[in-house]
Amino acid sequence: MRRIRLWSCAAAMLMLAAWAVSREGAIAAPAAGQQADAGKAAGTEKPDPAATMTAKQIAEGKELFQGSCGECHGVDGSGAVGPNLHGVAQKRGDQDLFSVIRNGIPGTGMAPVMSLNDHRAWEVIAYLRTLGPSKDEMAVTGDPAKGHQLYNENGCATCHSIGGQGGTVGPDLSQIGNMRAPKYLLDLLRDPGAHPPADTALPERGQFTGYMVTQVITKSGQEVTGIRVNEDTFTIQLRDVAGHYYSFNKADLKSLKEEPGKSVMPSFANLPPGQLDDLVAYLSGLKGAQ
Ligand code: HEC
Ligand code: HEC
Repeated sequence: MRRIRLWSCAAAMLMLAAWAVSREGAIAAPAAGQQADAGKAAGTEKPDPAATMTAKQIAEGKELFQGSCGECHGVDGSGAVGPNLHGVAQKRGDQDLFSVIRNGIPGTGMAPVMSLNDHRAWEVIAYLRTLGPSKDEMAVTGDPAKGHQLYNENGCATCHSIGGQGGTVGPDLSQIGNMRAPKYLLDLLRDPGAHPPADTALPERGQFTGYMVTQVITKSGQEVTGIRVNEDTFTIQLRDVAGHYYSFNKADLKSLKEEPGKSVMPSFANLPPGQLDDLVAYLSGLKGAQ
């Protein structure tokens, strides 16, 4: 077995730094907008269109949401590749949501949604207003402090980092409480492979293609399974669970197989349900440093 160790630690750090910078494009959410209501009261601004929608228009908004947003945010808005949107209208305010739909969030997978005209965008917002923070959502019953302890005991930090501490095999979890609904987190802990990355065609998989489990077998018989860090026409780079990097010339490969249903993350389905709830409670509370 010949192991090709491509990148030094320093190069890996550089890559991470570049990734971090590219993520900085995201706009921080302004405080929930009360401006629309204030403006309306003072008669200086147009009334908030989403506030005046009829039940029929809200139902249309729901359908439009499922068609235009559901693919990334889940058909019920509880999060998939994109974050959970339950409670987002209350958090961001209507005007800000409108701007997210029109302009996207630069530097992320949230692109401007061109398929909706302004009126339809407001219908979608009217629908989002009906998704309260806890509606249709699993209640978080666990104890976050115990969850924190379990996080450390179960070796999560060897692969994940929070607030800059921990490993980089898996995604950073500092904001996971914003990104994912509790139900998603529970399902993921039980069966990580059933979750992303399933479809690598989406632009926001830019982050997630890195986690595509890929197996290569070289013509000389070397076999490596790892997560795909990078790929171009002629080469592919993998990183195994231990954090070692490999680079292969595709011409030297006997086979290259992507395994979209798999994750290098182990399943934690064998933990007692109470402990899973504690972990979910801990993760749900991680909402970034701000
Ligand atoms: C191609 C996938 C994709 C589609 C389609 C998409 N989004 Fe997003 N959306 C994302 C991703 C990814 C993010 C997270 C961006 C980030 O990293 O901050 C996001 C973020 C958001 C946010 C900010 C969430 C927060 O917690 O502040 C809102 C609001 C949002 N999307 C609404 C929508 C709406 C409404 C639609 C449909 C009209 C839509 N998105 C369509 C991928 C998508
Ligand atoms: C061997 C490395 C490894 C270990 C150990 C591990 N994970 Fe993961 N985790 C990953 C990878 C890689 C992903 C990326 C998606 C995928 O492959 O499923 C991931 C994804 C996740 C996600 C979803 C992130 C998102 O943005 O949707 C959460 C939440 C998570 N892990 C939590 C945990 C917790 C909690 C533990 C410990 C109980 C843990 N992980 C242990 C590697 C690991």
